[in-house]
Amino acid sequence: MAGRSASDGSRRSPNERVGTMAVHMTPERWEYLNRYAREVFGTQDDQLETLMDRAVEAGLPRIAVSPDVGRLLMILASLTDGRLAIELGTLAGYSAIWIARGLAPEGKLLTVERDERHAEFAEAELRRAGLDSRVEVVRGAALDVLDDFSEQLDPSSVDFVFIDAAKAEYVAYFEKVRTLIVPGGLLVADNVYATGLGWIDQGHGTDDFNRLVASDPHFETTAAPMREGLLIARKTT
Ligand SMILES: C[S@@+](CC[C@H](N)C(=O)[O-])C[C@H]1O[C@@H](n2cnc3c(N)ncnc32)[C@H](O)[C@@H]1O
Repeated sequence: MAGRSASDGSRRSPNERVGTMAVHMTPERWEYLNRYAREVFGTQDDQLETLMDRAVEAGLPRIAVSPDVGRLLMILASLTDGRLAIELGTLAGYSAIWIARGLAPEGKLLTVERDERHAEFAEAELRRAGLDSRVEVVRGAALDVLDDFSEQLDPSSVDFVFIDAAKAEYVAYFEKVRTLIVPGGLLVADNVYATGLGWIDQGHGTDDFNRLVASDPHFETTAAPMREGLLIARKTT
């Protein structure tokens, strides 16, 4: 019954008021809450603490997930069987390290990156984290690599997927990855409410993708309004 919470069973419009909490959110409070989440839930080791500063010095953009989101990725990965995970969009390896730390001891992460400079930087950080034998940086465009994965990997063999590459391709990523995910496995996607360009009510974010996953009968789906919105879906059947 997704989207049918009104008392008469009709679907609520996103423009309808959803409660008084939203009335009291201000830009200042939003900033405060994000800083608060980093302070309280974003503790991390020295490598992760300094990783993005090193990446920016090396010319990479500062567009990794925040530490509190990284920890959520680790927790969610650890709630699956954690044998095989896929990440689309490696950047500097920051989220890859969090995800890999949530996997089973023998679990593997395949993280996909099309920019060679990003891939090289991430590999160095994964070595430094002692994760190079368990995380493979797969070079290439995510859609092409997912076609290869569909040939190489068995259906229902992937426990955890994190989507964080080209926002305009999220629908196509989902269509290619959905049969690879095992029932009980998790799909997580960043930027589902906003991109660096604006918010979902301004035409940004990933509305088509959100509605597609939310209406898929094989997934139970929600989104957490952390930073720019994190979709979390569990494959049920
Ligand atoms: C937002 S960053 C990923 C951040 C990373 N997940 C983290 O939080 O640490 C997006 C990355 O996806 C890569 N990317 C963008 N489009 C891609 C595509 N079509 N295929 C593969 N990688 C892509 C970019 O080069 C960039 O490194």
